[in-house]
Amino acid sequence: MKGIFPIDKFRELRTPFYYYDTKVLRDTLDAVNKEVARYERFDVHYAVKANANSKVLTIIRESGMGADCVSGGEIRAAVKAGFPAQKIVFAGVGKADWEIELGLDYNIFCFNVESIPELEVINELAAAKGKVANVAFRINPNVGAHTHANITTGLAENKFGISMEDMDKVIDVAQEMKNVNFIGLHFHIGSQILDMGDFIALCNRVNELQDRLEARQIFVKHINVGGGLGIDYDHPNRQSIPDFKSYFSTYAGQLKLRPHQTLHFELGRAVVGQCGTLISKVLYVKQGVNKKFAILDAGMTDLIRPALYQAHHKMENLTSDETMQTYDVVGPICESSDVFGKAIDLNKVKRGDLIALRSAGAYGEIMASGYNCRELPKGYLSDEFV
Ligand code: LLP
Repeated sequence: MKGIFPIDKFRELRTPFYYYDTKVLRDTLDAVNKEVARYERFDVHYAVKANANSKVLTIIRESGMGADCVSGGEIRAAVKAGFPAQKIVFAGVGKADWEIELGLDYNIFCFNVESIPELEVINELAAAKGKVANVAFRINPNVGAHTHANITTGLAENKFGISMEDMDKVIDVAQEMKNVNFIGLHFHIGSQILDMGDFIALCNRVNELQDRLEARQIFVKHINVGGGLGIDYDHPNRQSIPDFKSYFSTYAGQLKLRPHQTLHFELGRAVVGQCGTLISKVLYVKQGVNKKFAILDAGMTDLIRPALYQAHHKMENLTSDETMQTYDVVGPICESSDVFGKAIDLNKVKRGDLIALRSAGAYGEIMASGYNCRELPKGYLSDEFV
């Protein structure tokens, strides 16, 4: 055991694999629930896109959260893990007909609708089934977030949502339709946000839009502010539980929730990010011209975030206490971008050492691919090792 990891067990398993520390996960879920309990009518949906490992999903469902899904596959995964359909919201800019039908068949809580053409299709498909679908409109609030450009979503130039200018129009259209029931507004400004000022900017925008609607005698029951709370990738041990207190109290203090309204959240990364670690083995240590490479058996097919977003996952050599040396840590994939980090200090590395890539519980296993005909990594829970 080095630190928090059962290394002897790890040695018996084929690498690379994801390891989920269920204590960290359960403590994180408890922390969310404790903060949410301070406020009336706050409701959290776990964003399944962050991690849909069935064992992880089951633990999250046991905590009582709902589910935020963005595909038919995610709806199926959530239902299979036992999430009640009445706690499922379904978002996405391009919902296929079969996915809408699946949502209708399960009687999910709400469709987060992103365009008038989509609304028309939902209305038609619901009519064909003799149902009425709850819908919320995803409004693009044109609020920038201080995060990586690839993961901001709330700007007018992004493909997501309906513009603020069109908001009144879509609501009018929905109110004329027989098979949709307009119940709320939905927003999401981006991911890995640590600056509460970004969420305050969203609250201000929601307040403005609500005033505008109320002036027209339009009252919504549900406000959904999406997710986006970030985690500390540099200090996974020191900060294993994100600052949910500041997050929820920011919304409680800044968003003018009307007495009849429920405020919904869709948290992904903050729930599962810190409980997951990618465990991999060193295949070779190679001396380059000016540097040393540690070549791992895990690559961008197992964890794509560094290649895609220049994300940094803290790395640790779990099987060496020797003095620190500096390495470029790379994977085996035939792509120059298959690099986990450059000039990384690790305890001296040798073939066979186990390397941990931390804070990989969110958007890790779920974004794995079979490129180069590689096998998908497996995921193990710490519970399975006791
Ligand atoms: N709600 C909506 C509408 C979303 O689009 C997202 C994430 C979430 C909730 C959950 O956001 P979170 O709480 O996890 O920040 N693959 C990227 C992140 C993409 C996020 C996409 N949308 C990454 O690895 O950083």
